Amino acid sequence: MFNREEIIKILKDDTKNDWLFNLADKIRKDNVGDEVHLRGLIEFSNICKCSCKYCGLRSPNKEIKRYRILKDEIIEYVKNAVNLGYKTIVLQSGEDEYFTTEKMVEIIKAIKKFDVALTLSIGERSFEDYKAFKQAGADRYLIRIETTDKELYKKLHPNMDFNNRLRCLQDLKTLGYEVGTGCLVGLPEQTIESLADDILFFKEIGADMVGIGPFIPHPNTPLKDEKTGSFTLALKVMALTRILLPDINIPATTAMETLNPNGRILALQSGANVVMPNVTSTEYRAKYEIYPNKICINDNPDKCRGCIEGKIKSIGRTISTDYGFSHPKNK
Ligand code: SAM
Ligand code: SF4
Ligand code: FES
Repeated sequence: MFNREEIIKILKDDTKNDWLFNLADKIRKDNVGDEVHLRGLIEFSNICKCSCKYCGLRSPNKEIKRYRILKDEIIEYVKNAVNLGYKTIVLQSGEDEYFTTEKMVEIIKAIKKFDVALTLSIGERSFEDYKAFKQAGADRYLIRIETTDKELYKKLHPNMDFNNRLRCLQDLKTLGYEVGTGCLVGLPEQTIESLADDILFFKEIGADMVGIGPFIPHPNTPLKDEKTGSFTLALKVMALTRILLPDINIPATTAMETLNPNGRILALQSGANVVMPNVTSTEYRAKYEIYPNKICINDNPDKCRGCIEGKIKSIGRTISTDYGFSHPKNK
């Protein structure tokens, strides 16, 4: 498939976008079929010790009301999600030290009593933590590399280390997780060349899932006056990722729908095969404000389930009833 020069050329040329999206759609259909996998997302804590310059949850942001959802309430959401037909739960949070190894292990074990696959997305932890979570039953882990441009990574992530992020991805692979990564598109100073490198990086590390989202500036962050990332460029990066990694799982991200009211459907028609609706109650949704104008903040789990099902069916696709592992042949 495409080499670095070709990827750069495609990303820079907007005259052949329809061709690109159609090709990615065909490759998606030929390799992972028409089923869309739904993942029930629980954003269980917006408390974060990090200071990523783009993110509304960053610890220096004193404007947001912080919350934590504890085990029993998490289990209520899981129960409800299972009743709504979800076969995967995604637990996501800021880097919240309250959730120690022991606390996470307890939560994971309680969730795995249900008939669901479990994805964690709780940031950088030690090899020992990842091992304990895996032994407790976690199946998958999402940790975006955000950008493979090391200089830019350094500027955007005070007190964080690109090599540690890489170490996390390698540890997760070693431990047998299905590993998800991804990048932000449209970050200040990000180049097209570095986006091509991001796509090649996903291939090089053998990602099982890749989430691509446009950067959306948050008013209470140092990047508040920067330009919003381009929806079309994010879609192109996603489509190229599908072309280079034909059989992985690719979500139609919430950030895409935030920038375009039909964003998730367009993504599903340009390479994506996963959607991650929120399954927590309305009260927390607005508080998990990683960027402004997030979708579904006034909705509830039932409404989102019905809404997304209608959208998926309207384009002739079906909702999967299995766990949606990335390589079902090998499971
Ligand atoms: N704390 C964990 C981590 O960083 O891996 C998981 C939660 S974090 C909120 C999930 C993702 O949100 C990040 O990987 C990042 O790509 C995305 N994100 C944060 N701020 C954003 C923004 N302003 N616009 C778009 N996406 C953003
Ligand atoms: Fe914290 Fe994740 Fe936001 Fe960074 S992106 S500030 S680690 S929640
Ligand atoms: Fe939440 Fe459409 S997915 S209202």
